[in-house]
Amino acid sequence: MKKYVLVGTGWRGTFSYAEPLVKEYADCAELAAVCDINGKRARFVSEHLSEGKIPVYTDFDQMLRDHKPDVVIVTTKDCAHEQYIVKALEFGCDVISEKPMTTTDEMCARILETEKRTGHKVTVTFNLRFMNFYVRLKELMMSGLVGDVLSVHFEWLLDTSHGADYFRRWHSIRANSGSLLIHKSTHHFDLANWLLDDEPVKVNAFGTRRFYGHIREERGERCLTCPHKKTCEFYIDIDKEERGMWTKIYKECEDEDGYIRDRCLFSDVIDIEDSVSVSVKYAKGAVMSYSLTAHSPYECMKIVINGVNGRLEADTAFNKETIKFYNRDGECVNFDRSHVKMRAGGHGGADPALRDNLFRGFASDPLHQMADTRAGAMSIGIGIAANKSMAEDRAVYLSEFLGDFYPEMEKPQK
Ligand SMILES: NC(=O)c1ccc[n+]([C@@H]2O[C@H](COP(=O)([O-])OP(=O)(O)OC[C@H]3O[C@@H](n4cnc5c(N)ncnc54)[C@H](O)[C@@H]3O)[C@@H](O)[C@H]2O)c1
Repeated sequence: MKKYVLVGTGWRGTFSYAEPLVKEYADCAELAAVCDINGKRARFVSEHLSEGKIPVYTDFDQMLRDHKPDVVIVTTKDCAHEQYIVKALEFGCDVISEKPMTTTDEMCARILETEKRTGHKVTVTFNLRFMNFYVRLKELMMSGLVGDVLSVHFEWLLDTSHGADYFRRWHSIRANSGSLLIHKSTHHFDLANWLLDDEPVKVNAFGTRRFYGHIREERGERCLTCPHKKTCEFYIDIDKEERGMWTKIYKECEDEDGYIRDRCLFSDVIDIEDSVSVSVKYAKGAVMSYSLTAHSPYECMKIVINGVNGRLEADTAFNKETIKFYNRDGECVNFDRSHVKMRAGGHGGADPALRDNLFRGFASDPLHQMADTRAGAMSIGIGIAANKSMAEDRAVYLSEFLGDFYPEMEKPQK
């Protein structure tokens, strides 16, 4: 029986880790305590899951001293991951960290250094690696169907419900999330790295924000009190979201930390991009063009992988999972998955599969779905390099900030 504690009792921490640990994994895992800077939210979660029996902390160090856990689960906002990962490793624990592993090169370096020095292990949870559709793509890539990869086109579209939601809260402030290039694209960059079985070397990026932020005068502090609620197409009623659970987890805890869950999408505090375009050069020679759009009329991911044997095209438009391979004999082989039903559970069944792996453990991992700090660093590495590229108006090598840990990485030519 392993002993776990969790820091960050927001939506993900509560419903993707704490609740399943209590309800589904009690035979092999004990959730000994939870912690959050917002004590009210942590107390609500303990009440909700255990009638208050799970001890609640706002002092992380005290929680570690009192419970001496085997594993710390980190599900705070992104920029706070590093401080807890480092403390947990120093204390002698292993760590399960939500993506992104962290948000800056300095914090990434501290995690890599501490993991190496302490010998304890950090697992970064990339749940998309467990989604059936991406598992199928990985199997096809590993089968050699495409052959050596020459180039990749990767587009991710978030609609004005899902995409907008990142602009309502802490994610929309770069200091919290590192921007969508870290917070969201870490999923996509990890998928690309994993599918290609390759690592990024060099990045060039552009980004703009022209849809959210201070682009209209009809705005308020938040939807709840907005004078334009009757006319704004983005108005949400916080009390009606997720069967009233946003009221409990967020609205009724606001007085402790001022975290407003329905902040105006047109606020002038927003400082991240809503459209980005990134070029990546890979170590084995492939080049990737990637774009993220956070204001699309529909949700979709489209990836094209051009290889020496042909072209693999996959997309998820309108909830259909399509995979086609064009070989060099003029044929199209259809790996159509539009008949395959999404599995039950969060993120198309990916979350339950990930949790089984985390809490019960699999003997082998033939598709390499469990991600370590190297994978965590390589995925945020593209986002960090992209942020630097935009800020400094130049192409950026990942070796500039990861080279001390991975000396084999390609360096800029003198
Ligand atoms: N893999 C996925 O599909 C997925 C989905 C959602 C969120 N996430 C990740 O999970 C994490 C949490 O996201 P969320 O949607 O639950 O956000 P949330 O806003 O619901 O919760 C964040 C929690 O962190 C707490 N917090 C903030 N700063 C803290 C600090 N310094 N110390 C302790 N607690 C702190 C907040 O009080 C809040 O309870 C993020 O890292 C996010 O990237 C992953």
